Amino acid sequence: MSEACLRDAALRIVASPVLVDKLRAPARDLPDDERVLDALPLAPARSESLAIRPAKQARVPPLAGLADPSQRARIVHALANHELQAIELFAWALLAYPDAPDDFRRGLVSTLVDEQRHFVLYQECLAEQGVSFGDLAVSGYFWNKVALLSSPAHFVCAMCLTFENANLDHAEATEQAAIERGDERLVSALRVVHRDEVRHVAFGWRMLDAFKGDDETMWDAYCARMRWPLRPELARGRHFDAEARRRAGFDEAFITQLAGATRARR
Ligand SMILES: [Fe+2]
Ligand SMILES: [Fe+2]
Repeated sequence: MSEACLRDAALRIVASPVLVDKLRAPARDLPDDERVLDALPLAPARSESLAIRPAKQARVPPLAGLADPSQRARIVHALANHELQAIELFAWALLAYPDAPDDFRRGLVSTLVDEQRHFVLYQECLAEQGVSFGDLAVSGYFWNKVALLSSPAHFVCAMCLTFENANLDHAEATEQAAIERGDERLVSALRVVHRDEVRHVAFGWRMLDAFKGDDETMWDAYCARMRWPLRPELARGRHFDAEARRRAGFDEAFITQLAGATRARR
């Protein structure tokens, strides 16, 4: 089906249940003049095998499980599922914030195209083991937060400065575990993801800087737009890579605050 504008491409990604439709990039130079939608979807359309299940049905083994083929498949399947949700949510943001500035919308498109490439890299890692995406249950960790994303600033705080920010640490830890297992395909996928993630986090940083009030620090602006259960400690992994945050353009005050954010025990 031909698409007349960026909104149509974004709607196809969110509202088609067909996986290949979600993996096709918006055509270059699509006009962005028609932005408004009658009804914003609050969940993605999915085929039966990719229906979002409760988290307890899609548990992810710890990284030590990479040594065991069936656990490796579950870990990589979960990584691919994160990419799929990112693809859909960056497309969703194009539908949700029609009044957002052009540079925000351009950044959404370029990030979503990267997420489509990341998904395929993990899909290839699964194929190596004879596993197809959808063979295992998927959860909806990112989509479950969609009601909290009430503005473009809330969106970048959650997606770019929390989930993608945490992935700066998680991707590195997973890469280290994959190196130890000699899993070259997964190592090279994770390196691409990590490199691109720095750029995605940097996009979130620049956008929050543009959206925030002049009298707010970046840290205060970030915390003010995070609603429970989102919180700063979710924006980092166990090992905190300060250098990756510097490459993403963070200021030292923000890095210090994030380095000190630790997970509350339940
Ligand atoms: Fe990604
Ligand atoms: Fe990303």
